Amino acid sequence: MSSRLAVTFTGLQFPNPFLLSSAPPTESDTNIMRAFDAGWGGVVTKTIGLHPVVNVDGPKTKFLRTSIDGELSMHKRPGTALHSSWNWELISDKTLDWWVPRIAKIKKAYPDRILVASIMAGSGSDRELAHWQTLAGACQDEGADAFELNLSCPHMDRQDMGSNIGKDQEQISIVTQVVKEVARVPVWAKLTPSTTDIAAEARGAFLGGADAIVSSNTFPSLPLIDPATLEFEMNVDGLVSSGGLGGPAILPQSIAKMAQMTPAFPDRAFSGIGGISSFAHALNYFLLGCGTVQVCTAAMLDHAIGPNVITSLIRGFEEFLDRHADRGWQSLEDFRGLRRDRVVQHSSIRRPETKTYHGGHDAPEGYASTRA
Ligand SMILES: Cc1cc2nc3c(=O)[nH]c(=O)nc-3n(C[C@H](O)[C@H](O)[C@H](O)COP(=O)(O)O)c2cc1C
Repeated sequence: MSSRLAVTFTGLQFPNPFLLSSAPPTESDTNIMRAFDAGWGGVVTKTIGLHPVVNVDGPKTKFLRTSIDGELSMHKRPGTALHSSWNWELISDKTLDWWVPRIAKIKKAYPDRILVASIMAGSGSDRELAHWQTLAGACQDEGADAFELNLSCPHMDRQDMGSNIGKDQEQISIVTQVVKEVARVPVWAKLTPSTTDIAAEARGAFLGGADAIVSSNTFPSLPLIDPATLEFEMNVDGLVSSGGLGGPAILPQSIAKMAQMTPAFPDRAFSGIGGISSFAHALNYFLLGCGTVQVCTAAMLDHAIGPNVITSLIRGFEEFLDRHADRGWQSLEDFRGLRRDRVVQHSSIRRPETKTYHGGHDAPEGYASTRA
């Protein structure tokens, strides 16, 4: 891998800016080591917690596909393209004791790759806050290079966990500060996209001492209702609850979230996630100011850890640098954030000249005049 792909993010050296995000591709040591063999610059572990985890009965993730005429369904059909993933999976069902020796083993085998421990606890009591420190202490003692605080899991019924923390600036600050008190490695905060202006929550994280913001986790959503059976396409005993949408469908929404934050904090570090399967997708996040990007859905569909996805991301990045060599671009830093200032208020977008504008109710041509 050429050194021009290397990046420094929150003080950590990555051989390339492409990470596997916290999800099924990173749920075990074997998967993570396969991912590093395939070329991923970093990996964020499946979120580790201290509470026992029992997932729903049946599948935890399915993929929604669209036909050329726009028919959306989770049923596998020929001639369809991926629209999104839908999941209601909880955090890792493996214990901290299971993870700890594996973190050490992975770091020993891949000292030059970045292993980020995703951790999650509650915020409703001192005991819960101490859990964050227990998780952080154990993971960093075994060699984790950074922490990603899961403030974004969309499936938590508890008011003091996951995306419920991520919707409350004060709670975000408190949790980040508690982890920062014990952390000897960078602390990244993964925020929920389900708020109005995510820059407000980012501010809370930075006030608590966060070294980077990560966004997006999956967007709250439901599976569709099958018109033949009148049942939700994914259900247990006919019941569903809100789950998370990932994959191609969320790329435009995720970059909109990123665009709320990076101009507000141009000197801060951001890691972009959501709908990435090619370098062209990743480029959106880089041009908005992200220093790394993360991938989940595309990797799940590519041999579980995305060997073809990472090969294509690396090749795409190299080709992009070759194509723009005449501009003097030699690394990500030369074009990172180049389009950060192009997202403005609607009122700042130029309007046509008054004499050529026929909008409103007085148009010579339009909906009214086309009516028979
Ligand atoms: C099945 C599944 C499980 C996930 N589990 C976690 C998790 O444990 N922790 C976390 O922070 N994000 C989790 N995510 C969210 C992903 O890391 C990622 O933020 C999201 O899927 C958007 O990326 P994508 O469009 O590439 O899928 C999960 C996503 C999926 C699909």
